[in-house]
Amino acid sequence: MPTMLDTRVILEVLRPVQDPELRKSLVDLNMIRNVRVEGSQVSFTLVLTTPACPLRLFIVEECEKAVKSLPGVETVEVEVTAETPQQKALPDRAGIAGVKNILAITSGKGGVGKSTVSVNVAVALALMGAKVGLLDADIYGPNTPMMLGLANAYPTVKQSPTGEVLEPAFNYGVKLVSMGFFIDPDQPVIWRGPMLDARIRQFLYQTDWGELDYLLVDMPPGTGDAQLTMGQAVPMAGVVIVTTPQSVALQDARRGLRMFQRMPNPVPILGIVENMSYFIPPDLPDHQYDIFGSGGGEKTSKELDLPLLGCIPLEMSLREGGDRGIPIVIDVPESASAKALMAIAQQIAARVSVAALA
Ligand SMILES: Nc1ncnc2c1ncn2[C@@H]1O[C@H](COP(=O)(O)OP(=O)(O)O)[C@@H](O)[C@H]1O
Ligand SMILES: [Mg+2]
Repeated sequence: MPTMLDTRVILEVLRPVQDPELRKSLVDLNMIRNVRVEGSQVSFTLVLTTPACPLRLFIVEECEKAVKSLPGVETVEVEVTAETPQQKALPDRAGIAGVKNILAITSGKGGVGKSTVSVNVAVALALMGAKVGLLDADIYGPNTPMMLGLANAYPTVKQSPTGEVLEPAFNYGVKLVSMGFFIDPDQPVIWRGPMLDARIRQFLYQTDWGELDYLLVDMPPGTGDAQLTMGQAVPMAGVVIVTTPQSVALQDARRGLRMFQRMPNPVPILGIVENMSYFIPPDLPDHQYDIFGSGGGEKTSKELDLPLLGCIPLEMSLREGGDRGIPIVIDVPESASAKALMAIAQQIAARVSVAALA
């Protein structure tokens, strides 16, 4: 007699399929839902923890293979959705309605490529299908409008039932609100802590972000008020530290890191991005010069005792793309730095979901 197809049988045959990152059964992780059997047709929902899951196709294929191995099954339909558990984990702070994962991109000092990484990772996540926002909280050098081709944009203010809200600027699939829209580039920065604090909160809560999978926050460098504000104002899904291989930069990165670890609600540190790790000359794109010695990124990661999310070479086209307002992941996707940045975005997406389940 042929096996009767029912929900229980489908779940049993799916049980050995694991989430490759978490190494646990999809069924045990409650990622398989709404199993339905109609004749020879089986359908179910696969609930991922991140919409930009780099292994999404692989997981779907494994599920289909498993279910099709059952006699009597002809078609398998998998609907994929994402559900991030971040807000559930931290009920003491409100979060931003509709925004699933808030990520801070930070560094010990300026000029290490924090904004370059923020902008390109944001665009890369959008290219992978996620809804992305970027909040540029860096009062000292708010250059993300230029890097995103929005130097002449001006965010509008509109009325909503809760008062006035900012409408973000938008380009390359990324919604942007930047300190740069509100400060005169010719005037020195004279704001002190409390004012910055209010501005950051306003950008977080009085902006019409809509539905976002990721809100990246380009932080001011260092260990100051902005870091504290972020840590206190919203539940964060994680922090990414950008550094360069020089030891001074490393020391600064270590200090920046401690700040987040010591907060009343410690924020998961997702890892470090090493920028300007090695040099690729424009006329010899196949050459790689390890100015700081080889294996730099790993050394850095070991010294800071943090996962290495990736290493980005020093490449002229990366700076040029930033200056022209076309992020390198769109401008020259085949370049070494664009590939590194795409891989870093995937790493971040994967680690956000793992940290959220931990
Ligand atoms: N890997 C890289 N290769 C070449 N230029 C880079 C690289 N990373 C950053 N830059 C350039 O260095 C400058 C500082 O980078 P930026 O992202 O603004 O740093 P931060 O935000 O940390 O101050 C910018 O002109 C940027 O285009
Ligand atoms: Mg910057």
